[in-house]
Amino acid sequence: MAEDPVIRAEGLSVRFGSKTIFKDVSFEVRRGEIFVILGGSGCGKSTLLKALIGLVPLAAGHAWLLGEELAKEDDNERRALLRRIGVMWQSGALFGSMTLAENVELPLEEHTDLSRPAREALARSKLGLVGLGDAAAKLPAEISGGMAKRAGIARAMALDPPLLFLDEPGAGLDPITSAGLDKLIKDIARDTGTTFVVVTHELQSILAIGDRCIMLDKEAQGMIAEGDPRQLKAESTQPTVRAFFRREAA
Ligand SMILES: Nc1ncnc2c1ncn2[C@@H]1O[C@H](COP(=O)(O)OP(=O)(O)O)[C@@H](O)[C@H]1O
Ligand SMILES: [Mg+2]
Repeated sequence: MAEDPVIRAEGLSVRFGSKTIFKDVSFEVRRGEIFVILGGSGCGKSTLLKALIGLVPLAAGHAWLLGEELAKEDDNERRALLRRIGVMWQSGALFGSMTLAENVELPLEEHTDLSRPAREALARSKLGLVGLGDAAAKLPAEISGGMAKRAGIARAMALDPPLLFLDEPGAGLDPITSAGLDKLIKDIARDTGTTFVVVTHELQSILAIGDRCIMLDKEAQGMIAEGDPRQLKAESTQPTVRAFFRREAA
C-alpha cells in the first residue's frame, strides 16, 4: 500500500465575504518531496497555506496534515499537530532586538522544557544547518537579506518539523542569493527527509526545486495545473500555464 500523504487536500474553498478566492482545490503532498504552490500575485497562494493550517476558515473541503484533520481536533490536539509544522511566512521577519540564535531559540522556549544550554546548542546546530554557524551572535540588522531568510528557515526548523511551509522564500532577493537559497532547501530536503511546501511565483526556483507543483489562477478561482513543473513547461497546452512557464503572453 502506498504511504499516507503528508498533506491531503480535498475540495478546498476559501471565501472572504462574498469573494471566492479559490474553490475545489485538491492535491496530495508526498513524504520527502518539495511541493510548490505557484501562480501570479493575488491568486491565493498564501491564503491556501493559511487554510491548510487553520488560520483562515474553509468554506468547503477537508485537509489532512500528517494524517490528522485539523478541523476535527480539539484545542490540545491542534496545538500538538501545529507544533509539528514549521512555517516561514512571506513577511516572516526576525525579531530585530534578538540575535539570530535567540530568534531560533524562541520556538524552543515556547514549546519545550529544554534547559537554556540545550536550547542554545540546538539553535546553533540549526543555524549551522543553514550555513550561519558563525553568525549566531549577530543581530538581524547586521546581516544580508539572504542570511535573514536562512535564519528564518532555521527558526522554522527549530522543533524538527517533518513538514515545512515556506511562503515566497526568494522574495526580495537577488537571483544569485535566491538560487543559493534554493540549493539550501534542496540540501535540507535531501539530508533530513523534511517535506517542503514552497509558495513561489519565481519560475527559476520552481524548476530548480519543485518535485511537483500545483498552479493557482485568480480568474479561474482555483487550480489550473498539477504535476512535474518541467513536464508542465514542456507539455502543457493550457494557455495560462504555458504563458507562465514559457514567459509568453497568454
Ligand atoms: N483576510 C483577508 N480578508 C479579505 N481578503 C483577503 C484576506 N487575505 C487575503 N485576501 C485576498 O485574497 C486574495 C489572495 O491573497 P493571497 O493569498 O495573499 O495571494 P498570493 O499569496 O497568491 O499573492 C487577494 O485578493 C487578497 O486581497
Ligand atoms: Mg502570498
